[in-house]
Amino acid sequence: MRIAVVAGDGIGVDVTKEAVKVLEAVDRRRALDLRLTFFPWSADHYLATGETVPPGAFDRLARDFDAVFMGAFGDPRVPDMKHAAEILLGARFQLDLYINFRPVRCLADRLCPLRDHAAKDVDFVVFRENTEGAYVGSGGNFKKGTPDEVAIQEDLSTRKGVERILRAAFEHARKRPRKRLVMSDKSNAMRFVGDLWQRAFAEVAQEYPDVASSHLYIDALCMQIVRDPSAFDVVVTNNMFGDIVTDLGAALQGGLGMAASGNIHPGRLSMFEPVHGSAPKYAGTGKANPFGAILTAALMLDHLGRSGEAAAIERAVQGCVAAERCTSDVGGALSTPQAGDAVVERLEL
Ligand code: NAD
Ligand code: IPM
Ligand code: MN
Repeated sequence: MRIAVVAGDGIGVDVTKEAVKVLEAVDRRRALDLRLTFFPWSADHYLATGETVPPGAFDRLARDFDAVFMGAFGDPRVPDMKHAAEILLGARFQLDLYINFRPVRCLADRLCPLRDHAAKDVDFVVFRENTEGAYVGSGGNFKKGTPDEVAIQEDLSTRKGVERILRAAFEHARKRPRKRLVMSDKSNAMRFVGDLWQRAFAEVAQEYPDVASSHLYIDALCMQIVRDPSAFDVVVTNNMFGDIVTDLGAALQGGLGMAASGNIHPGRLSMFEPVHGSAPKYAGTGKANPFGAILTAALMLDHLGRSGEAAAIERAVQGCVAAERCTSDVGGALSTPQAGDAVVERLEL
């Protein structure tokens, strides 16, 4: 199991250490034949060398590794986020990781912030389109810095891109007990891309008569998820709406520190990273919750065919949360490394 590890910036470094600690513990007991290779790509590396990712790096990763694990990127010293764009979005785009798979599961009642709901009501997954939309970097500035300044940022959808994320979401919904899917867009205001999404959705849905599918505008989806999260099973949406709705989802899981994600192209090298960012103010303080990163490592093992070990990690994290063996954001008093140790202690393999 050859894993490329890019811890990145801020708390990305802190939480990645703990995810690695858990992977190494699993390896000792279950012989994953784990081979970790660490890459320094980060704001520090960029500021010191001028390099974000070396040329050809993603091709080499695809050739030499089974998966990539990333921490987080973002540093106040790099205000234009150039390194993050080239490392994180670079991986998503250049490796064509079109599925951003973001589970929203609440592991303990006390982490659910909704008055009339409990953990059992929060169990859905977002399929975020990950290679198109407003993230393609199409646009530009005109008369920048003058009173007549113009900025354009285009939102691009392709038939192929929309169809493949819809199909991936329907395939997944078909395997879940509830078999429900909601497609969400803003086709009432964004008519051109909306029309494409609507037609592709209607056609793909016909191939999945066993999945109960419906549509909600993204604003209404946000409202309904807060009103009654138990109504949701699989949500599929575009890149930017998926980004936003999964931070909302993270809040239903107990916060950004709990949320995991996989950037996947089935059958190809895929990349795994927690949903949260580099939270610079917490970097190196021992406050960062490593559970999102550890649950991300579990997603990665599951993707690599080690579902038993993945489930064991999830149970260990759930046990730690229940026993309040966790960081303060989720009601415990442990530091980042202590929370990682607590998961290792609870691993039943
Ligand atoms: P953030 O996710 O870094 O942090 C927002 C807040 O959420 C934090 O202040 C903290 O209160 C909480 N939080 C996040 N992760 C936590 C954890 N593991 N444990 C405990 N609390 C946690 O988002 P931001 O402050 O908007 O962004 C900071 C930087 O990270 C920016 O440069 C941003 O662009 C970048 N970012 C990167 C990624 C990524 O690399 N995947 C994701 C989001 C943001
Ligand atoms: C995420 C992050 C990134 C995104 C940023 C850092 C570009 O917010 O992974 O959710 O918007 O995709
Ligand atoms: Mn985000």
